[in-house]
Amino acid sequence: MIPRRIWEVIALKEVLLIDCCIRRESSRTRRLAQAFVNALDPARFHVTVLDPEAEGLRPLTGVFFQAREELLARGELDHPRFRYARQLAQADLVVFAAPFWDLSFPAILKIYIENVCVEGITFACDEEGLHGSCKASRMVFLTTRGAVYGGSPLEQGSRYLEAMARFFGIPAYSCIAADGMDLGDPASPLAGACEQAEALARSL
Ligand SMILES: Cc1cc2nc3c(=O)[nH]c(=O)nc-3n(C[C@H](O)[C@H](O)[C@H](O)COP(=O)(O)O)c2cc1C
Repeated sequence: MIPRRIWEVIALKEVLLIDCCIRRESSRTRRLAQAFVNALDPARFHVTVLDPEAEGLRPLTGVFFQAREELLARGELDHPRFRYARQLAQADLVVFAAPFWDLSFPAILKIYIENVCVEGITFACDEEGLHGSCKASRMVFLTTRGAVYGGSPLEQGSRYLEAMARFFGIPAYSCIAADGMDLGDPASPLAGACEQAEALARSL
């Protein structure tokens, strides 16, 4: 018989929050992310926050790209530079927080994705095609947008991340957005999105 407290520790789910809120303390998107995290049951979830900018993540260019190709060719998947991919692959819940920029999101989020798309860690390839290898059961995208997009084809951030969820093998995807943040008083759309985020967090 496993004592209840030990069982609770064993059962803790690992949440990986990738914080791409460039304006940091001034960011409304970060407030949305805080509402989501604060509503998670601390007895069931452990949250790790990753700030790709603070980590100094770099785009795949020049010798940085070449070095990666050589490591992959040698099968050195345990190299430290692939730690972000391993971290993503092992998370139970993946949460992105990023503002809506230029119809999608800030470049640092794409740089993060470049660094975590590693064959043999977050996805695999065989004669049938590509298969995601991530453990998470859900990806959540939290964002705030200056204007209102609804289902507009101009909105490319959530569409792209939903596709990435499928690529990584993550079966469920949710986007919670505060639209119209720069059209008037942002308090109302932000409060509505925070309520949705809290409801989603409590439902997990
Ligand atoms: C560089 C930049 C690009 C932006 N691009 C868009 C855009 O394409 N469409 C839009 O509706 N709002 C755009 N905005 C406005 C932001 O989406 C909006 O202010 C958002 O709430 C910012 O989130 P934050 O407070 O977390 O930084 C942009 C803002 C910045 C700074």
